[in-house]
Amino acid sequence: MIELPFLHNFFYTDIPSNKDELLNAIENGELDDNQEFEWSDNCSIQLERLKIKDNLKLFIPSINNYLKELKLGGDNINVQLHGLWRNTYHKHYFQEIHDHSPHHISGVFFLTDEQPGDSQFYFFNKQYSEIPHAWRRFRQEDSIVFGGRYWIRAQRGRIVLFPSYLMHGVTVHNSDHPRKTASFNFDFV
Ligand SMILES: [Fe+2]
Repeated sequence: MIELPFLHNFFYTDIPSNKDELLNAIENGELDDNQEFEWSDNCSIQLERLKIKDNLKLFIPSINNYLKELKLGGDNINVQLHGLWRNTYHKHYFQEIHDHSPHHISGVFFLTDEQPGDSQFYFFNKQYSEIPHAWRRFRQEDSIVFGGRYWIRAQRGRIVLFPSYLMHGVTVHNSDHPRKTASFNFDFV
């Protein structure tokens, strides 16, 4: 029996029961006055920062489920929504591998279903270069060990939450159809 004693690359995913409310708040949210993104130089995305307003409450059920599954205090942990923005990928747009430190929880919410040629979100294993090729070559595609990238399928209304230190990226968009997501950060308070 295999057990994982020190797991720190993990994510939570779900279709939240309030997904329609989330979709409405994000797709029709008011734009923030500040549209500067200091990290955007090394990627190509149409970015639209939204006003935070009272959007935090829409994420709370998902965050509570996430922390509960991790046995991390459940409802006793308070978080603050630190950033919320829409991402639109037009043809040839992409996002380099990055993390969201120093925030604590980050996430993506998919606004469109995955279509052929779409850019794809993936988690990147920053320890991958340390894994000897002798181990990598025997790896089956669905193995839980020794992977370099873990692909997430876009589905309208799907949320993914992860620790902000987890590295991730988005491949080049090869479709004429724009692909849309929202991203956000939370801090423990
Ligand atoms: Fe990101």
